[in-house]
Amino acid sequence: MNRRDALLVTGGAGFIGSSFIRYYLSEHPDVRVLNLDKLTYAGNLSNLADVESNPRYRFVQGDITDRRLVKSLFAEVSPPGIVNFAAESHVDRSILDASPFVDTNIRGTLVLLECARAQWAKGGGDHRFVQISTDEVYGDLAEGGLSSEDSPLAPSSPYSASKASADLLCGAFFRTYGLPAIVTRCTNNYGPYQFPEKLIPLMILKASRGEKLPVYGDGSNVRDWIHVSDHCRAIEAVLLRGRPGTVYNVGAGCEKRNIEIVRSILSYLGQPEELVEYVTDRPGHDQRYALDSSKIREELGWAPHVTFDDGIRQTIEWYIDHPNWVKECVSGDYREYYERNYGERCSRGESVD
Ligand code: NAD
Ligand code: DAU
Repeated sequence: MNRRDALLVTGGAGFIGSSFIRYYLSEHPDVRVLNLDKLTYAGNLSNLADVESNPRYRFVQGDITDRRLVKSLFAEVSPPGIVNFAAESHVDRSILDASPFVDTNIRGTLVLLECARAQWAKGGGDHRFVQISTDEVYGDLAEGGLSSEDSPLAPSSPYSASKASADLLCGAFFRTYGLPAIVTRCTNNYGPYQFPEKLIPLMILKASRGEKLPVYGDGSNVRDWIHVSDHCRAIEAVLLRGRPGTVYNVGAGCEKRNIEIVRSILSYLGQPEELVEYVTDRPGHDQRYALDSSKIREELGWAPHVTFDDGIRQTIEWYIDHPNWVKECVSGDYREYYERNYGERCSRGESVD
C-alpha cells in the first residue's frame, strides 16, 4: 500500500485505535488519517488530544452501521486502506446484552466491506482492508497448546462469536469478490487509555484507592498479554506488507494467570493481598488463551519490544498520573453500569471521587 495515501481508521477514539492513530501519524509523515468513531462509552476524544490539531488528522463522529455515511466517506476520501477497530469490545457486556455486539461487530463490518468493495471496484491502486480481531475466536485452550491461524474457531462468548463472524465475512469477501481483506488476531492488550472496565486498569484504580479487587472464579485463568504499542506495530506491518486473504496471529508469548497480574499490581502499589476478593465467575469463562504467532514474526519480521515488567510499571504510573482522564470515564457510564449489573461481583461502598 502506498504510504502517502489516506487511511480510514474506524473506532479510532478507543484504546487501541487511538494508540494506532498516534503511532501511524508520527511514523508516516505523508499519510492522512480519517477517524470514524461513534463515541460510545468506550470512545473518548481526549485519547487523541495530542493529534487533534494535526492537519493530516480528521475526525468524523458516526456509526459504521450507517451505510449512507460510510459510503459518502468512501466516495469523498477514497481511502486505499482501512483498519477496522470499531467494536463493542467487552466480554461481560456481551453476556448482558449481545445485540449491540451483533450490530457493530458483524453488521458494521459488513457495511465497511460492502462500501470498500463498491469503491475499490472503480479501480486505481493497491488496497487493504485490515480487520482487527482477537485470539478469543479460537476459544478455550488446554494447558500447553497454542492456537495457530489454522486452528478451528470455537468462540465462547457473544463477543467472541461476533468477532469470529466478522472474520468469516472478511474471508468470504476475499474468496468471492477478491476484496483484499486481512485479519489480525491479537491477545490481551494493556497500556494507557484503556477503559477501566478491563482487568488491568480496573485493578490499578481499585488498588490505588485501597478498594477490594474482584477476581472472577479462582483467578487461575490465563491470558497472553501484549503492550498496545507492540500491537500497533504489528498492525502497521500487516497493513503495509501483509498477504491479503490471510490471517495473522499477534502475541507476545507472555502468559499470566489473572491472580498473578493482580498480585503484581498490588505489590507495585504497596497494597496488601487481603484486598483480593474472589467473586462469582464470568459465565462461560474461557480458562486459557495463547497464540502461536510465528507467522507474523517470520513473514513480516515483527517482534514485540516491550517486556511485561516495563509495560505494567509504565501503565500503572500512567493511570496514577492521569486522574482527570480516569475521572471522565469513571464518573459516568462505568460506575452506573457496574453497580447495576455486577452488584454481586463488585465490592460495594467504594468512592470514585
Ligand atoms: P474499545 O472498546 O476501547 O474501543 C472501541 C471503539 O469503537 C470506541 O472508540 C467506540 O466508540 C468505537 N465504536 C463502537 N461501536 C462503533 C460503531 N458502531 N461505529 C463506530 N465506532 C464504534 O476497544 P479496543 O480495546 O480499543 O479494541 C479495538 C479492537 O481491537 C476491537 O475490534 C477489539 O475486538 C479488538 N481487540 C481488542 C483487544 C484488547 O485487548 N483490548 C485484543 C484483541 C483485539
Ligand atoms: O483476548 C483478547 C481480548 O481481551 C479482547 O478481544 C477483548 O476485547 C478484551 O476485552 C479482552 O477480553 P478479556 O475478557 O480477556 O479481558 P478482561 O480485561 O475483561 O478480562 C481479563 C481476565 O480477567 C478474564 O479472565 C476475566 C478476568 N477479570 C476481569 C475483570 C474485568 C476478573 O477476574 N475480574 C474483573 O473485574
